[in-house]
Amino acid sequence: MTLANNYEHLSAGAKSRIGKRTQIFINGEFRDPHSEKYFSIADPSNGLELGQIAQADQFDVDLAVAAARKAFEDSAWSRMRPYQREALMLRLADLIAENAQELSELETLSSGRLIRNTRAFDADLSVYTLRYMAGWSTKISGKTLDLSVPYLPDQKFFGFTKRSPLGVVAAITPWNVPLCQAVWKLAPVLATGCTVVLKPAEQTPFTTLRLAELCNEAGIPPGVVNVITGLGHEVGAALVEHPGVDKISFTGSTETGKRIAAIAAPLMKKYTLELGGKSPVVIAEDADLNIAIPGAAWAIFGNHGQNCCAGSRLYVHERHYAEVTAGVAEIARTIKIGPGLDLSSQMGPLVHHAHRDKVMSMIHQGLESGAELLCGGETINSPGAYIQPTILTDLTNNSITSQKEIFGPVLTAFSFKDDREVIQRANATSFGLGASIWTKNVDRITSFFGGVKAGTIWINNHNVLDLSLPFGGMKDSGAGHELGEEGLLAHTSLKAGVMRVFDQAE
Ligand code: NAI
Ligand code: MG
Repeated sequence: MTLANNYEHLSAGAKSRIGKRTQIFINGEFRDPHSEKYFSIADPSNGLELGQIAQADQFDVDLAVAAARKAFEDSAWSRMRPYQREALMLRLADLIAENAQELSELETLSSGRLIRNTRAFDADLSVYTLRYMAGWSTKISGKTLDLSVPYLPDQKFFGFTKRSPLGVVAAITPWNVPLCQAVWKLAPVLATGCTVVLKPAEQTPFTTLRLAELCNEAGIPPGVVNVITGLGHEVGAALVEHPGVDKISFTGSTETGKRIAAIAAPLMKKYTLELGGKSPVVIAEDADLNIAIPGAAWAIFGNHGQNCCAGSRLYVHERHYAEVTAGVAEIARTIKIGPGLDLSSQMGPLVHHAHRDKVMSMIHQGLESGAELLCGGETINSPGAYIQPTILTDLTNNSITSQKEIFGPVLTAFSFKDDREVIQRANATSFGLGASIWTKNVDRITSFFGGVKAGTIWINNHNVLDLSLPFGGMKDSGAGHELGEEGLLAHTSLKAGVMRVFDQAE
């Protein structure tokens, strides 16, 4: 197993960013942070420092929000026609495609994720997201209708609605799919004519900063896109509280999401929260195990379990429990662990060492609270933040590892007897982000789809996301939706018009 990282083969663009101080991006220009402070980030595969990240403060937040506000209210942006915004978005998508290799390398360097995933998700899916949302720019519409107004029978009225851009959006993103998350938030902003201050996670700011450069290159007017880096509880919180921000678009932990909602609600700000999960994977009695076993393994081990919709709870019909758990454990034991930049690796390190330690501590707490270890459960002897793919079994559904989001490659497996019982158990956490059912039976699919409280239900697959479908969570997993038409419209305000009609002719 090679656990040392090699930067020699990186693209010139990615190499040139290692070991530097970063800046923040306000009103189309890069500048040093007002605080003159920086914090360092490390490559989680070897612990080596990757760079010094600008630590913005309230002064920078004020500047960035003012730039976004100005661009929204009186710049070329608000006068731009929809087809021109579409063209800019398509240009930005092309630039991301041209720089996909560099972007995916930068993403792998700081997040530790596999290069093939940072390519497929962060780079390529960002391109598709921008192209999909670009098409919406010219298709945002309202309604027209004849009104009844029963209490004014002698008069006639005509009603209409119009959608307008909501305003300045503060977009706060996590470290697990950073560029993709930034673009999921940026694309509807651009399509609707809003402006944005993006705040990437502390650990993974490189690609969002590179995105800012590409926005300039694409010709997006200054102030439409601003990027602030810094500590979440400082600049993230300052953005949420800022009176110049109309909407907060947040992806991250349920804890931070609830804090944001509590601040935003009395200020009457709009918000979209995409939060944590503990998504169940249910393998029914009639499931095709050839598909379901690898499906269940990659539902949790994909992206090292660092997915909000990771399939972290596995429910197997008792008839197949032994075979399925043995099959998933066999995959877990043979997964090749190594640096994300190594093309042969199947699982890289977790995002940083402190997160690895948190995951390990949760495994230990799970074992203390009644779970049993089927495989894994150890770190790997290396300077990297590696951890073995781990499976726990649990008879009770009550252990910490059955209830809390772990955000690592840790699966808890259970057996079940009947469909009604498993739906109840699938719902027995505070979360409701995703769920999958593996079956060929249509009645089973219908009752699972109807009974499980989750924002996305997958049938014979897990974690497949598409830009045209809304993505969001129920219960503690969030509020509102991203992507799809719903995610787009969440960046608009709706106005109704009532017009008296004097000419009664049709
Ligand atoms: P977090 O929710 O604290 O951080 C996410 C983003 O919010 C980052 O950009 C961070 O700087 C910012 N932030 C932090 N505190 C803030 C505040 N008070 N106001 C405004 N913004 C703030 O997540 P963290 O601490 O990185 O990870 C903790 C756990 O959260 C993970 O172990 C995992 O369980 C969960 N998580 C879920 C994600 C998802 O996709 N739903 C993504 C990342 C983490
Ligand atoms: Mg946090």
